[in-house]
Amino acid sequence: MAVAETRSDRKSAPANAFDVPESVLRTLRNSKWSKYGPDVLPAWVAEMDFSVAEPIQQAVRRIVDARDYGYPMRDGDRAGVAVAKAFVQRMKDRFAWEVDQALVLPLADLVQGTYAPVLAFSEPGDGVVLQVPNYPPFRDVIQTTGRRLIPLQMRNNGTRHVCDTAEIAGAVDARTRIFVLCNPQNPTGRVFTRDELMAMARFAIERDMIVISDEIHQDITYPGHRHIPFASLGPETAERTITITSPTKSFNIPGLRCAVLHFGTAQLRERFLKRIPARLMGDPNVIGVDATVAAWTQGQPWLDTVMAHLLRARDRMVSTLRAEVPEIRCLAPDGTFLAWLDCTGLGLKTSAFDFFHNEAKIGFSAGETFDPACAQYVRFNFATSMSILDKILDRVIDSVRRQA
Ligand SMILES: Cc1ncc(COP(=O)(O)O)c(C=O)c1O
Repeated sequence: MAVAETRSDRKSAPANAFDVPESVLRTLRNSKWSKYGPDVLPAWVAEMDFSVAEPIQQAVRRIVDARDYGYPMRDGDRAGVAVAKAFVQRMKDRFAWEVDQALVLPLADLVQGTYAPVLAFSEPGDGVVLQVPNYPPFRDVIQTTGRRLIPLQMRNNGTRHVCDTAEIAGAVDARTRIFVLCNPQNPTGRVFTRDELMAMARFAIERDMIVISDEIHQDITYPGHRHIPFASLGPETAERTITITSPTKSFNIPGLRCAVLHFGTAQLRERFLKRIPARLMGDPNVIGVDATVAAWTQGQPWLDTVMAHLLRARDRMVSTLRAEVPEIRCLAPDGTFLAWLDCTGLGLKTSAFDFFHNEAKIGFSAGETFDPACAQYVRFNFATSMSILDKILDRVIDSVRRQA
């Protein structure tokens, strides 16, 4: 565990490769820096303020410089096969998870990869279990497809956020077909332990449910925590699990739109394809393909440096908030670059998002978008330079002191 830094030692910290100046970030046309005006510091959508790994940049530049925008082939095969191969190798190297390349379906994004299995494996009116709070588009998927949301509450037990499937035993019926698992969990940052995952697996197996396991934040785990792919728990789990993931979060390339969907068995894949033809899923674009392969095969040294920075940022954020504004409850996330701040103790008259937006000029993610009951929460994306992080922390502290 790195020694937690406080605001007093920040000035002496050396500049590092992740110090992209605010003036440069404000020229980007990404949604993070474009949504709010010049007076607001954005700390919302899950992307990082770091420039991408050089192998990714080179892969993109190679296509652009050659104006090579035709239907792509790689190594004599469709380009999607290169993505599947890179995924197989990455899962083996990082998580000792053996994956069959034939069970991988490349696609453009993970929300698409959530809609498709929900449509394939359930009917309107069927129940879908979802941990709450959760990534807002998961709620949208359940709502827009006319499925029933069965909330599995994440609770702060004082040291971590936990959920217990026993709590929803009464709410789950024969028409509850799907369990959407998010691990590492967004927004709480939990990285579930093997025992917790085994309990979730037993729950799904006993009720014969399909599990859609979103593991997009799988690379971002801090010391003491290890990501375990859900489908790697055992054959009975794999046969009902669709894993969805991509390098977009870890390697900061969400605009390049390339992801994978993995079926635990060939039978599961066939059942899916009977309902959703593969062509309906589309193909990722050529730049996304090459960037993904570069990220998964050559990006790890860059990611190691990012992780060292994120660990410092996480610890500085948690120690500063605890010392200066203990009314805000903040558990150090096990993984992700997101922190879930419980601002109930501030006794605000407005939502926590509105308070920080209006009084501190910070654009956090509004808690109520993750769960309507969480208007006194905000999600804090701390993947930024230390100087911007400190500015945000200063603004939080000042705004809270002013309203006290
Ligand atoms: C848990 C989770 N799943 C899926 C996504 C969507 O990722 P993408 O748009 O890169 O497919 C995000 C993005 O923040 C996320 O946090």
